Amino acid sequence: MNYEMLTLDAPVTGVALLTINRPKALNALSPQVLGELLSALASVNESRDVRCLLITGAGAKAFVAGADIAAMSSMSPGEAREFALKGHACMRMLELMPFPVIALVNGYALGGGCELALACDWIIASDNAVFGQPEVNLGICPGFGGTQRLSRLVGKALALDLICTGRQIKAEEALRIGLVNRVVAPDRLLQEGLDAANAIAAKAPLAVKMSKHLVQRGQDLDLANANAMEADVFGFLCATDDRREGMAAFLEKRPANFTSK
Ligand code: COA
Repeated sequence: MNYEMLTLDAPVTGVALLTINRPKALNALSPQVLGELLSALASVNESRDVRCLLITGAGAKAFVAGADIAAMSSMSPGEAREFALKGHACMRMLELMPFPVIALVNGYALGGGCELALACDWIIASDNAVFGQPEVNLGICPGFGGTQRLSRLVGKALALDLICTGRQIKAEEALRIGLVNRVVAPDRLLQEGLDAANAIAAKAPLAVKMSKHLVQRGQDLDLANANAMEADVFGFLCATDDRREGMAAFLEKRPANFTSK
């Protein structure tokens, strides 16, 4: 499928690289971008070969500078609600992808851009990255899940600080508060993402998939039920060929050859 506002590549086997490609508007998320994102995510989700998805923004300046303010400026309440629901659908798809999704934040990640990064499983940022939820400057609140995912990741007080003041933070502070996992030089960002993706691709696919499933689904459960689900999945994985292969390879002191069965 051809996209106007994004590119979808396979830089190495098992890795998909999705780039929001609208650099003149700092990759702002318009309804069209969200529509393309939904269809690209559906196609990546269906691919049997993908083991990790990397998401970044085109150009040197921005990951995504937010939802498209020009488009939002003329939306009716009903249209704005539809727009928010479309954003939520994209973010939820990322969380439910059957493999890890890593945001490579290469500049501004503001508003919907910060929310997009937050919906990925973790974030690697370049040292020129800037994060923020500046919606209060525009008379709105975060609309793609920022109020919930930011507070779950960095805690209620810091989330409220960022959301209610609209202040923007640099990569260093984002690292300190646990918003990002790692900060690297801009020219290292893609390689860091590929290194992480390659490390994931070398592991047992079902084990990675189910581990993500447990962490993501477990967030919505109480501890007892989440742990019960973990025990069930642990039992299920013990019935796989990959468990036999992984443990045999360890005991025989050789690399494992996983088959995803
Ligand atoms: N929606 C629509 N267009 C956007 C945008 C957004 N969220 N963010 C940037 N753009 C556009 C600008 O309108 C400008 O377009 P133009 O060249 O046609 O005038 C272009 O991208 C470049 O942005 P500009 O503001 O000139 O760059 P800058 O380096 O001076 O500032 C930012 C960069 C990110 C600080 C600034 O663009 C900004 O504050 N953007 C909005 C951030 C925001 O509030 N996001 C949350 C939205 S809910």
